This record gives sequence, C-alpha cells and structure tokens, in this order.
Amino acid sequence: MEMLEIIRNRRSIRRYQQRQIPTDVLQKILEAGIYAPSAGGRQSTIICALRDRKLSEQLGRMNASQFNHAAAAGRHVSDEQPSIIDDPSIRSAFYGAPTVCVIFAPDGYTNSMPDAYCSAANMLLEASALEIGSCIVCRAEETFSSELGRNLMLEWKIPDGYIARCFVLLGYTEGQYPSLKPRKDGRIKIIE
Ligand SMILES: Cc1cc2nc3c(=O)[nH]c(=O)nc-3n(C[C@H](O)[C@H](O)[C@H](O)COP(=O)(O)O)c2cc1C
Repeated sequence: MEMLEIIRNRRSIRRYQQRQIPTDVLQKILEAGIYAPSAGGRQSTIICALRDRKLSEQLGRMNASQFNHAAAAGRHVSDEQPSIIDDPSIRSAFYGAPTVCVIFAPDGYTNSMPDAYCSAANMLLEASALEIGSCIVCRAEETFSSELGRNLMLEWKIPDGYIARCFVLLGYTEGQYPSLKPRKDGRIKIIE
C-alpha cells in the first residue's frame, strides 16, 4: 500500500477483538516506535508493551477515573468507535485492547512529549500498514504517578528520571471498520 493510503486508512480503534496480536507483528510496531525521529537524535523514548490483560484493565480503569468529564462536556469523538468522552459508562480507557504500549520519556526535558508522540505516531502508522487497530491514549503521567504505577516502573526497570507520556493500544478491530472523518477546510497552505 502507498504511504498516503496507509495514513488515510488509519483510524482510532476503541472496540477490540479478544484475540492477541502475534509477537512478530508487535515487534514491527515497536520497532517503528524506536525508529521515530527524536529531538537532537537523543532516542529518548522507552516503549513497554503490556500484554497482561488483568493489569492493563486495572491501569485502564485508573486512567478513565482520571478523566475530567465535566471539562469534556459538549465534545463528541465518534459514534462508530465511542471514546470515554462519548460514553461515560466505559470503565477502562484502554477499551479492552489486548496489547497496551506505554511510552516513557525523560522527565523535565523540553522535547520529552514531542519525542513520545513521534514514537506513538510511527507505531500507529505501522499498525495501520499491518491492518492492526490502534489508538493513542493520554493521561499516562497521572496513571503512572500512582503507587501501582511507580512500582511497575521499578519492576519494568524504567530508568530514574523517566515519566510515562502516553499509551498506544493495539489489537484487531471488532465490528465494522470506521469510516473516514472528513477533514476541515483551510488546513493546508502552500506559500511559493
Ligand atoms: C494527543 C492525542 C491524545 C489522544 N488521547 C486519546 C484518549 O485519551 N482516548 C481516546 O480514546 N482517544 C485519544 N486520542 C485519539 C483521538 O480521539 C483521535 O485521533 C481523533 O478522534 C480522530 O480520530 P481518528 O484517529 O480515527 O482519525 C488521542 C489522540 C491524540 C493525537
């Protein structure tokens, strides 16, 4: 598939099949993450793929509980793949995805967040190319600043001075593949 087609074909998926994605497929998606551009070539991100469903359900519920529904009032994301904004009855912000990747990056570093999201974007596109559903989820710092989160970072040997920046959910899409959302006008300018 042509690159632009892969990019256009990507959707945020929030309904997943139970079956796990194969490890070799996951490896490729993780590799795409570490081949992302990074500020100053620092290669700062560390990506941890979590496939323990009980633990990811627990973290996903913690993440959802940190979501401020009042602040999101009036916003709408998707009818086809509802988010926790659209459906407050959704308990886990990881939507039952069988693989949840946590992207860590250095704390107190200007380009920590951009580096993390560059890795995330690369992963989403590789997932799209491999016909794997994916979704970025934020509020990672809040989730990992809990006692459980801090203990997991120790257990997973995440170096001191690192902070969780975002999640990338991965799995096979459940149900119909969502349609393309029309793009807003006036978002491209070419200045000669
Ligand atoms: C920085 C960022 C944070 C996001 N956080 C969440 C999130 O916490 N939960 C969620 O369900 N989707 C999240 N998304 C996915 C967006 O909701 C999604 O990209 C948007 O609705 C457009 O839909 P599409 O990805 O299918 O084109 C996030 C996307 C970005 C870029």
